[in-house]
Amino acid sequence: MSVFIDACWGKPTPHTPVWLMRQAGRYQPEYRAIREKMSFLELCKSPETAAEVTVLAAEQLSTDAGIIFADILLILEPLRIGFSFEKGDGPKIHNPLRTKEQIEAVAESIDVEESLGYVLEAIKQTKKSLKVPLIGFSGAPFTLASYAIEGGGSKNYHATKTLMYGDPGLFRELMERFTTSIIDYLNAQVAAGADALQIFDSWIGCLSESDYRKHVSPHMKRIFDSIDRSVPSIHFGTGNPALYPAMKEAGGDVIGVDFRADLAKTWDETGAKAIMGNIDPVYILAEPPALENEVRRILESVGNRPGHIFNLGHGIMPEASPARARALVETVHKVSRELRSR
Ligand code: CP3
Repeated sequence: MSVFIDACWGKPTPHTPVWLMRQAGRYQPEYRAIREKMSFLELCKSPETAAEVTVLAAEQLSTDAGIIFADILLILEPLRIGFSFEKGDGPKIHNPLRTKEQIEAVAESIDVEESLGYVLEAIKQTKKSLKVPLIGFSGAPFTLASYAIEGGGSKNYHATKTLMYGDPGLFRELMERFTTSIIDYLNAQVAAGADALQIFDSWIGCLSESDYRKHVSPHMKRIFDSIDRSVPSIHFGTGNPALYPAMKEAGGDVIGVDFRADLAKTWDETGAKAIMGNIDPVYILAEPPALENEVRRILESVGNRPGHIFNLGHGIMPEASPARARALVETVHKVSRELRSR
């Protein structure tokens, strides 16, 4: 099989597999050149070009996995939540969901083939040339709901929490609609050829453990209970290290850890079969040898325990240099081989 998939199942591997969240993106000159010719959404909806940037990133960096080029927000379109990417300031939801009428107008389910068939086609195209496993993905219901309710990114999630605490039944209704569509979307990605799945709960860290268990965990559990178990799943969240044990209980073969948490400690506390993470992406910008030293510290902290997938603690930023990103991957491979031979 492959080093990446073996590690996801907690099996020993000859080196620690590594890939980088957002490994295809604006830090690459080739990506910027493609983006001069088409918008981000056009790129997501052009299977051939989406496949090209997916493969390019994995090959340039020599990562042990690729991730399909798409975005967590694409599913909002068939759910009838209009959005656009504004130049320079990220995604914008046109009519943020605040009322019962708006939430009841969200689709109860989606036809994945018809509405997101371009992602499935990009997966099929990518599989023809990618030499490492391909990760499919979706946003998690809370992260998608918070975008839809806030209208975009947020610092404090007041609108989302106001609805969640004040009208839990209505919030649950919205979460259920997202959950149903996410399950169908993820299973369609596996049917199209995805070798693993990642669910991004990027904004979950604004919640307490108690509210996570009450308002989010049941939906996450439904996702992990309903997706194709023949491929490993990665459950990623950021912002609040105290949530990882509850996230692990909700499901996922691999727990994806952000840079704020201690990786080895989180692995022990969650009892996860496998763990992914977690270098602060800013190390890529720092003068050498800061990056190399931090890679070594993280690898040494988990020792030779099987089931570690190395990654950034969050997405790579546009200012990163491709050469330093490549140095990160090489260092993980080299140091992890060294540690295994000790
Ligand atoms: O990892 C990969 O290489 C696969 C592709 C991928 C993208 N977005 C491409 C992208 C993945 C997995 C995502 C997930 C995603 N999208 C998340 C979860 C990951 C995380 O960071 O926690 C979130 C929150 C989004 C929503 C989103 N999409 C934002 C906030 C933005 C704006 C970011 C920015 O820096 O402007 C996007 C746009 C986006 N998604 C870009 C890329 C490469 C930049 C688009 C461009 O201008 O070319």
